[in-house]
Amino acid sequence: MCGIVGYVGPRNATEVLLTSLKKLEYRGYDSSGVALKAQDFIYIAKKKGRIAELEEAFVDMPEAHLGIAHTRWATHGEPKDENAHPHTDCTGRLALVHNGIIENYRELKAELASHGHRFVSETDTEVIAHLIEEYYEGDLLRAVLRILPRLKGAFALAVISRDENRIVAVRQDSPLVLGLGEAENFLASDIPALLSYTKEFVIMENGQVADISGRGVDLYDFDGNALPLNIRRFDWDEKQAEKGGYDHFMLKEIMEQDESIRSTLLGRVRDGAVALDELDPIIDELRRAERVYITACGTAYHAGLVGAYLLRHLAGLDVEIEVASEFRYAKHHWRPNSLGMVISQSGETADTLQALRMMKADGIPVIGVVNVLGSSVYREADVPLLTQAGPEIAVASTKAYSTQLVVLYLFALYMARLKGLITPEQESEIVAELQRLPEKIRNVLDRAGEVRNIATETYRASDIFFIGRQVDYLLALEGSLKLKEISYIHSEAFPAGELKHGPLALVTDETPTVGILFQEDVLEKTLSNVAEVKARRGDVFILGFQRDASTLADVGRWAFFVPDTLPLLAPIVGIPVLQLFAYYNAVLRGTDVDKPRNLAKSVTVE
Ligand code: G6P
Repeated sequence: MCGIVGYVGPRNATEVLLTSLKKLEYRGYDSSGVALKAQDFIYIAKKKGRIAELEEAFVDMPEAHLGIAHTRWATHGEPKDENAHPHTDCTGRLALVHNGIIENYRELKAELASHGHRFVSETDTEVIAHLIEEYYEGDLLRAVLRILPRLKGAFALAVISRDENRIVAVRQDSPLVLGLGEAENFLASDIPALLSYTKEFVIMENGQVADISGRGVDLYDFDGNALPLNIRRFDWDEKQAEKGGYDHFMLKEIMEQDESIRSTLLGRVRDGAVALDELDPIIDELRRAERVYITACGTAYHAGLVGAYLLRHLAGLDVEIEVASEFRYAKHHWRPNSLGMVISQSGETADTLQALRMMKADGIPVIGVVNVLGSSVYREADVPLLTQAGPEIAVASTKAYSTQLVVLYLFALYMARLKGLITPEQESEIVAELQRLPEKIRNVLDRAGEVRNIATETYRASDIFFIGRQVDYLLALEGSLKLKEISYIHSEAFPAGELKHGPLALVTDETPTVGILFQEDVLEKTLSNVAEVKARRGDVFILGFQRDASTLADVGRWAFFVPDTLPLLAPIVGIPVLQLFAYYNAVLRGTDVDKPRNLAKSVTVE
C-alpha cells in the first residue's frame, strides 16, 4: 500500500522525509519519490525501485524545509518513474502525493484534457493535481476544499504549492496521521514513520482536511468548518512500530481486512450492480462461456473452491478446479466455450503460472485474480482482476484470501447476470450486503480478545478438526490450513456429513473440533454431526451467526457469533475468526508466526 510522509519546519526536509519514508518500507512498494519546496521552486525526484535508488537522485538538491514524499504500490499504471508520485499540474506549481483510488478518474481526466490539461502518467492520481490547478488562485486550502466534492473513492492526499509555506492534507478512507513538534509539523500514513521525531499525534478521521505549517496545524471538515485537534501520545518501541503497533505482520494483516475489502469493492459497484469494466476485452468469450477451469495453490486454491461453488450456484456454469501442481500435468480435453481462471496473491507462483501458460497456449482465455500489479500473472493473463489487498508480508495468507473471495463473488454475480440467471433485485441485494461487509468484519476484528480466550483452552491440543457443510466446508478447509501452517497443530477439515465414514474414529476428549454452522438449509444436519463429536467427548467450538445465538450458544463448549449476513457470504465474515484462532493458538505455542518453519511466501520453484 502506498505510504505518504510530509514535513515542514527548521530541519533539513530531505533527511526527515527519507528517514520517515524508509520506516514505511515494510508496507511494500515498487517506486518512491519526493517533492521539496526551496525558494520559489518545487524540486521533484522519483524513481522506480528501492528508496536507495531515489537517494542517488538527491546529489544536487537544494536544502529545503518543506516537502512531501511517497512510496508507491501500483494500482493504476505499471511501476515506472513517470507513474511514481509526486504528481504535478501542467505548470509544476503544485505537487501532490496520494494513497487510495480515485474511482471517477477517467471522467475527470477526459474533462480536464478537454480544458487543455496535459497528462504525463497513467495514474488516477495525476488528475487531482490538474483539478486543483483549475481552482488554484494562491490559496491552497481553498482550492483543495473546492475540488473535494468532485472526487469519488478513497484518498489520503498531501499537496504543496511553490508559492506557499504549507502542506494541505486530506483523509477519506485511506489512513493519515499528523505528527506535532516545536515549530515543525509532520504527516504520514502511519505513526511508526514519525516516531523518531515526535510522540504526539492527531489521527485524522474520514472527511477531514489539515492545514500544516511550521506555526501549527489547523483541522477542518470538507465544508471548511474548523475542528478541534484531538492530540494523543504514542510510546511504541521500534519493533511494534514497524508492524503498526501489532506484535506480528500476520495480526496487522488480519486487522486490515475491513480496509482491504473496502478497497477491493471500490469502483466495482455502480447503481447497485456489479461493474467489472476490466472484463470488457473478453466480453464475447464471457457471454459464450459454459465452463470454467480454475487453478491455484494453497490459500488461493481455497478461495478458488469458493469461487467454483459460486459460479455453479449463481451462474450455472460447469466448473473444474484443481491445484495448479496437478492441473499443469493433467491431460485436459478442453471443451469449447471454456474460460480459464488462475488465482494468486503474488502472481509469481511457478505452478500457477505454468498452468496459466498452458491454458493460453491452448487458446483458452484466462482471467488472473491477482494482488500484485505488474507481476507475471498480472501481465500474462488475458484479463487481470486486481484484489487490492495491499502488500502481504506474513507467510500465511490472510487479507489476500478475503479479497480474492470478494473478487470471486463479484465475478460470479457478473456471470449470473450475463447468463440471465439473476434478477437486478437479487443482484442488488447481494451487492448491498457485500458493501456492508467491511463494517461487519470490523465488528469481528474488534472482538479478537474473545477468540484469544478460546485459544487459551485449545493450544495444547495435538489435533484440531474443522467441520462444515456446503460453502462452510470450503471455509473450514482454509481455517484448518491456517492453523496447521502457523501453530503446527495437526489439523484437517471434513465435510460434516462425512465424519461418520471414517474421521470420527479420530475424535476423543483431546481433539477439539471447530463446527461451522452458517448454512441455514443444513443447520439441523450439521448440528447432528456436532452431536456425534460430543458423544465421543470431543469439545466443540461453534462458529455461527448472531441470529442463531440463542439456539447455538450452549451447543458447544465455546462459541463465536458473527454479525448476520446472507449465508452465501459467510466465508468472508467467518474467515477472520478462524485466522485469529490460528494466530492465537500459534502465539500461545510460541511459534515464529510470520515465518513458519519450512514455508515460503512465494513459491517460484516447482
Ligand atoms: C505459498 C504461500 C501460501 C500461498 C501459496 C500461493 O505456499 O505460503 O500462503 O497461498 O504459496 O501463493 P500465491 O502467491 O500464488 O497466492
